[in-house]
Amino acid sequence: MVRENFGGFQLANLFEQELQKQSVFLNRDAISQHFIPKELPFREKQLKEISSILTAALQGKKPNNVFVYGKVGTGKTCVVRHVLQELQEFKQKSSARVESCYINCRVHNSKYKALQKCCKEFYPSENFLGYSAAFVFEKILDFARKNKNQVLIALDEIDKVKDLDELVYALSRGNDELEQGEGAITIIGISNNVLFKERLDARTKSSLCQEELVFAPYNAEELKEILKQRVEIAFKPKSVQESALNLAAAIAAQESGDARTAVLLLLRAGELSDKESKEKVSDEEVKKAKSKVEEEVIYNMIATLPDQEQLVLYTIALLAAKQKPLQKITGQQEPGALMSGEVFEEYKRVAKKFKESNVSARWFRAYLNELETYGIISTTKSGPGMVGNTRLIRLNPEASKVKESIEKEISG
Ligand SMILES: Nc1ncnc2c1ncn2[C@@H]1O[C@H](COP(=O)(O)OP(=O)(O)O)[C@@H](O)[C@H]1O
Ligand SMILES: [Mg+2]
Repeated sequence: MVRENFGGFQLANLFEQELQKQSVFLNRDAISQHFIPKELPFREKQLKEISSILTAALQGKKPNNVFVYGKVGTGKTCVVRHVLQELQEFKQKSSARVESCYINCRVHNSKYKALQKCCKEFYPSENFLGYSAAFVFEKILDFARKNKNQVLIALDEIDKVKDLDELVYALSRGNDELEQGEGAITIIGISNNVLFKERLDARTKSSLCQEELVFAPYNAEELKEILKQRVEIAFKPKSVQESALNLAAAIAAQESGDARTAVLLLLRAGELSDKESKEKVSDEEVKKAKSKVEEEVIYNMIATLPDQEQLVLYTIALLAAKQKPLQKITGQQEPGALMSGEVFEEYKRVAKKFKESNVSARWFRAYLNELETYGIISTTKSGPGMVGNTRLIRLNPEASKVKESIEKEISG
């Protein structure tokens, strides 16, 4: 196409201009959330353990069910997906009858939705929309039965399934219906919630947790190595300064040892460098990216909390936003701390306002424990100098950010 020539200047096409822009990225997909790296350093033990459990399937035997848990960003999803990929790859070279599917229960959050999704994976050309749960379930059993398939179902963020007891029960009972040698169904459950296991119904627990694996948070050195590998595939050579990489690892390690935060920090820092047409990612971009990433991480975490837990957190944020330092009898001040009794009373008022039923003091304490394991609050015993033996609560991120996120979540 001939472009009009204004006074001797050729105007470049808008898209041509965009595409010619400098970028620090070599392959941006490799630093996106959905990318599964081929190398997973510091998870060799877990990779071996899961594959060793699942090997039975290649021998035509039913493996034990596995329950994988640990905090967000400890590599659970990518480890399980990687193992399933390897299994698929190996299967192609052998005559083993193994089929697997991966289900994100944050999206498929009920027994029916999860079973529907399984069916869609196993029968890609058929449509089961509108069929009953019983029918869909029979199709999955058939899938195991007909080809003597060992069927592996990975249920990620399994705690999001509303009627989980029924789902686990149905899948376990399915195995009783299958005759010896007809194939079987194995569940690989994954949860970011460290206390979830304790809340399971006894029967569900014993069925789901035949094998258990815990993923611990990464330390700064490990995060550095993980980022180094990712930088090599996602960024152009020498476009990330070493100090910037170290800073991203240090920030993520300090906050929670979460590899997702670390990777996200580099992605956002790289985007900032591109926006400002810089050739390198330096400490400055990582520092600038920090607040945005924190918000993303908090928002993401809040979105995964059960409604009642969101309300407890909301109450803490409301009180923390308007709070004065606490005065101990000894004259010492406790900056930024709330008393658990005061939070509980306010929580009951807030629940009423949102027309939610409120929970007992016992559940309230359990929710506080859970929020603490997520790192969003810290609690301490009040110690001497306070009336009674109360628990002091501190909100770790900025109260206004937490408040905004929950308000968005409630209204959205
Ligand atoms: N050992 C590792 N090596 C390389 N990348 C990792 C490793 N562990 C986690 N990651 C990356 O960190 C991010 C979060 O990992 P993910 O598996 O989603 O964690 P989880 O499921 O435990 O929340 C992903 O982008 C993943 O690729
Ligand atoms: Mg995950």
